[in-house]
Parts: sequence; structure tokens; C-alpha cells
Amino acid sequence: MRIIFFAGKGGVGKTSASAATGIRSAAEGKRTLVLSLDTAHSLSDIFDLPRKLMDQNKGEPVSVAENLWIQELDIQEELKKDWGEIHAYISKVITATGVEEVMAEELAILPGMEELSLLLKINRYVTEKTYEVIVLDSAPTGEAVRFISIPTALEWYMKKFFNLERTLMRVARPVVQRVTNVPLPDDHYFAAIKALFERIRGVDRVLSDPDITTVRLVANPEKIVLAETQRAFMYFTLYRMHVDAVVMNRVLPQNVTDDYFSGWKRNQAAYVRKARDYFAPLPILSVDLFPGEVLGFEKLADLGNRIYGERSPLERFHDERAYELSKKDGVYRLAVKLPFVEKSDVTVSRAKEELVIRVGSVKRHVLLPMHVAAARAVKAKFEGEYLCVYFEGAKDAK
Ligand SMILES: Nc1ncnc2c1ncn2[C@@H]1O[C@H](COP(=O)(O)OP(=O)(O)OP(=O)(O)O)[C@@H](O)[C@H]1O
Ligand SMILES: [Mg+2]
Repeated sequence: MRIIFFAGKGGVGKTSASAATGIRSAAEGKRTLVLSLDTAHSLSDIFDLPRKLMDQNKGEPVSVAENLWIQELDIQEELKKDWGEIHAYISKVITATGVEEVMAEELAILPGMEELSLLLKINRYVTEKTYEVIVLDSAPTGEAVRFISIPTALEWYMKKFFNLERTLMRVARPVVQRVTNVPLPDDHYFAAIKALFERIRGVDRVLSDPDITTVRLVANPEKIVLAETQRAFMYFTLYRMHVDAVVMNRVLPQNVTDDYFSGWKRNQAAYVRKARDYFAPLPILSVDLFPGEVLGFEKLADLGNRIYGERSPLERFHDERAYELSKKDGVYRLAVKLPFVEKSDVTVSRAKEELVIRVGSVKRHVLLPMHVAAARAVKAKFEGEYLCVYFEGAKDAK
């Protein structure tokens, strides 16, 4: 099983690179699905497929070649399937407060529900082994980061939720009932949520296992794009995902000699050099600007050849572990690679069994193994690009 996750700034070529990678993977004989995580789908457009074909298929996978399927999920349908009961209950409560029903239905979509539905889908394909390779075409960085922040927070989420369940039952029941006249959810409701979490369980391990999942960042040789790619790299490692290459797309080819483009070419060459410095030792897979749009199977296949040359797209292009828990002389050391951040932007705090790493406005909860959480003293410091947290006096694991 292999998952390749494409991410990057808006418009850099994520969908094209995902499709091209899918084509190469299928050509190797692997059952491959290219799944769009972006609700503004453009996969079928890029394959130049008639819209009707996708609409008829109602968000199910569509076969585009031997061993190759593409899927543009209908997120409304998925929400209905996954969250039907839960959504109905929340809308009922909101309607009872006097909000119109249509509005209440909209409001009852909680943040994270869409992302969880996507995760459920991925997890189902993984557990049912439907495909050997899944290529994920994500939305631009901001949304993609929100998406990947969810699996690593799942355990934490679960805990909070079930604490909430207890509080709700004890404290809120009389209040909610008095104010809304809607009975508090019964066990059935909580059972529905528990079942949902059960179906998502394990997806965090799949996405953070570098033997299965690697992230490829797509960029263009421009200042703003590179800055965002650096941030994306840091976020993905913070959320424990393994970045294995940068695809530097739309580089003006050498044989463009027109004077008009000489400034562009100089600029691009400088940014390609910078990218090599920034991201070393990650490989930079450089791709020329095509003479026209990359549309249809043939051109996408050509793009795949330009990205990977003789190599297999299923390789792991880089092997460094960006996240490591080790033990030496009775002291546990958690090392998280956090490149491109100012030390002053990072704070580390600890609450019982979790460590909270905050970088600017983004934070990650790291659940600690019990014996590590029991440590008396914690010290955090930067060692090169690594944020290292030391736990002294930890009891040994039984
Ligand atoms: N190497 C290339 N040469 C020429 N055109 C390219 C190249 N790569 C991508 N394109 C074109 O750039 C446009 C944007 O590509 P694409 O849709 O893959 O980007 P994206 O990152 O998925 O965008 P979005 O953030 O909107 O999802 C498309 O018209 C595509 O054909
Ligand atoms: Mg796209």
C-alpha cells in the first residue's frame, strides 16, 4: 500500500502532478486511485473528460485507463452518509432556538466534519485494500494543513469528546432541555459518534507512516510560492507527515532564448538555487513549462515522464525521519524537525499526558506514551533544525 499526497500553493500544478503520478503508477501495473481532496474539483477537467461522465457517476470513482481511477467526492453526499444522525440532532437543537430550518441545517455542519468524511473515505480504501496506490490531490496549503491536523489530533479529540459526553450528561442536560425543549441526545447518538471514530481509527498511523505515505510539495520558482512551500514543509513535519520531494514546476526551458524572458529566466534560476539550499537534502524534481496547458491523458503522461524520468513514482525519494522518540541514560528525547521557524515563534507547554507545540498560530498536541508522560522534568531546546524535548526521570515502560 502506498499513499502519495500532493500539496502546495494555489495553482502551482498539484492536480496536474497528481494525475501524472497516477498515470505512471498505473503503468507499473498498480491499481491506482487519484482522489481529489479539494472540493473545487478539477481532476476530470484536467483529464479532459466530459462533465456528464462525472455527474452520472455521483462522486464514485471513474475509470480513465487500465488500473487507473479518478474520484471527485460529492462531499454533501458523504456528509449525509457519515453524519446523518448526528447532523439531524444538531439541526434540531438549532431549530429549537428559533433559527429557520434551512439555516439550521447549514449551521449544524461542524468544523472538521468535511475533513473527517474525507479521512473516513481514505481509511475505508486502506482497510478494504481497494487500491494499491492512492494519490491524494489536496486543496491549497491552508486547507490541506487543516485537513492533516485532524488525524494527529484524533486521539486527543476522542478524549475531549468523551469528557464532553460526561459533562454534557451531568451538567448540561437540565439546561439544554429547559432552553430548547429538545431532549438531550440519548446513548444512540453517542454510539453513532463512537462508531464513526472507530471507522477513522488508524488513519493517523497510515498517514504518518513514511513507509506508506509521503508528501510531495509542488512549487514554482517564485518568491511567494517558495515562502509558502517552506511553511508547508514545516507544517507537514509538525503534523508528523513525511515530505519526500519538492516538484519544481513550470521552469522556463533552456531553449527559450527570447530576450523578453531573459529576466524571468535569471530570476527563476536564482529561486531554483535557493530552493536547493532551503530544502536540501530533499530532492527537487524540476519540470519545464510546457508550450501549452497540460490537458488530457497524453500530456499528463508526458508530465509524469518529466517529473520522474526513469524513476518509479512509488519510490520514497528521501528517507530522513523528521520525528523521533529515543532514550539514552534514562532520559527520553523527542525530536521534531521544525525547519524555517524562528525560535521565538515556538512555545512548548505540557498538560498532563500531552505536549503542546505551538508555532505561530498553529498548534499540535502530541500525546505522550504513559511512561514518558510520567517524567518529572521537561526541557526543550533547539538543536539545529530540531526541536528537542527531554523528559528526565521517566519510569520505564513495563
Ligand atoms: N509544467 C506545466 N507547464 C504548463 N502548464 C502547466 C504545467 N503544470 C501545470 N500547468 C497548468 O497550470 C494550471 C494549473 O494547474 P493545476 O490545476 O494542476 O494546479 P493546482 O495546484 O492543482 O491548482 P489549484 O490550487 O487551483 O487546485 C493548469 O492549467 C495546468 O494545465
Ligand atoms: Mg488542484
